[in-house]
Amino acid sequence: MSTKRAGHGISPRRRTARRSPRHAGFRLNPESLRRARLLIVGDVMLDRYWFGEVSRISPEAPVPVVKVERTEERPGGAANVARNAAALGAQVALLSVVGDDEPGDRLRSLLESARVHANLLRDASIRTTVKLRVIGRQQQLLRIDFETTPSHEVLLGKLADYRAMLADCDVVVLSDYGKGGLTHIAQMIRLARLQGKRVLVDPKGDDYSRYRGATVVTPNRNELREVVGRWETEADLTERAQTLRRQLKLEALLLTRSEEGMTLYEDGKVRHEPAKAREVFDVSGAGDTVIATLAVMLAAGAALSEAARIANYAAGIVVGKLGTAVAQPEELLRAMRPGADM
Ligand SMILES: Nc1ncnc2c1ncn2[C@@H]1O[C@H](COP(=O)(O)OP(=O)(O)OP(=O)(O)O)[C@@H](O)[C@H]1O
Ligand SMILES: [Mg+2]
Repeated sequence: MSTKRAGHGISPRRRTARRSPRHAGFRLNPESLRRARLLIVGDVMLDRYWFGEVSRISPEAPVPVVKVERTEERPGGAANVARNAAALGAQVALLSVVGDDEPGDRLRSLLESARVHANLLRDASIRTTVKLRVIGRQQQLLRIDFETTPSHEVLLGKLADYRAMLADCDVVVLSDYGKGGLTHIAQMIRLARLQGKRVLVDPKGDDYSRYRGATVVTPNRNELREVVGRWETEADLTERAQTLRRQLKLEALLLTRSEEGMTLYEDGKVRHEPAKAREVFDVSGAGDTVIATLAVMLAAGAALSEAARIANYAAGIVVGKLGTAVAQPEELLRAMRPGADM
C-alpha cells in the first residue's frame, strides 16, 4: 500500500482580512468570496457518462448494444462540493481517499482544472468510486458502480492530514456519502470545534449521533425522514426538526426540500425560503451546491440566514443547467438583483 500526501497550498489569511463582527454589512462580491477558505472532507467519486447510439439488440443476450460515441466525466460527491465552492471563487482544500488507479488520476486532474487544492490519499487496496452511466437515445440504460471502503490505515493517515489542514481554513464541510471515508467524523467535528471552526455536514444514514456538535447539518427530505420519521403537518415537521437540532447540539438544521425550497431551523427561529428555479432541467447535485454555497458565504462573513438565502439562489441556478453543474458569482449576483426573474 502506498499513501501519497501533498501540501494543499492555501496561504494563511492576513490579519487585516478579518472583520468584526463577522457579518456586519455582508456584501456578496467577488472580493469577499476570494477571502473565504474552506476545507472539504468526504467521499469523492468520479461521475462518468458514456453516450452512444443504440441500433441493435445483442446476439448474446436480449440487451441493447450501445456504440459509444462520446464520454463525459465530472467530479462527484465531496469533489462536486469542492468544485462548486471553487467556482464561487473561494480557496478550497479537499481531503479524501482514492484508489491507485486511472479514475483516481482522472479525479486529480479534473480537480486541478477546477482550482481545487486536492489532497487525495492513495489507497492501493481500494478502487476509486466510479459511477458509470451508459446513455443511449437520451435515456440512461445502465449505471455501473465501482466502490470499496478505504482501509483503516489510510483513514488514520487522513485524520492526521486533517489535523494539519484545519488551521488554514475558516469553515469545514464534511460531505458524507456513506462510502466509509468519514469513519472518524465525530473526532473531526470535535477537532474543528476546538479550534473555533464552523462545521457543516451533509448527512447520510440513520445514525446522526455522529454529527453531534456540528454547526449545521443539511439533510434533504428523505434523509431527515430516515431519522425523525414521517411528519404530518408543517408544525409537526418543525417540532421534529427542532428536537433533533437540540439533541445534536447543532446551531442550525437546514432542510433542503427540492421543489419546496429550504427551511432553516435555528434556536427559536424558523425561516423558509421558497425554491427559486424558473426552469428545472437536472436536479442532481443541487444538495452539493447548497452546502458548498452555504460554506463559502459563511466563510466570507455572511450570517447563517443570509448564507442560506444565497445558497437557495445558487441551487435554483444549478437545477436549471444540465448535468451536475455549478453557479458562478456573476450568475448569483444577477439572480439576486431586486426584480430579477430567475
Ligand atoms: N425541482 C426543483 N425545483 C426547484 N428547486 C429545486 C428543485 N430541486 C431542487 N431544488 C433546489 O435545490 C435545493 C436542494 O435540492 P434537494 O433538496 O433535492 O437536495 P438533495 O436531495 O440533497 O440533492 P442531491 O442529492 O441531488 O444533490 C433545494 O433546496 C432547492 O433550492
Ligand atoms: Mg444530497
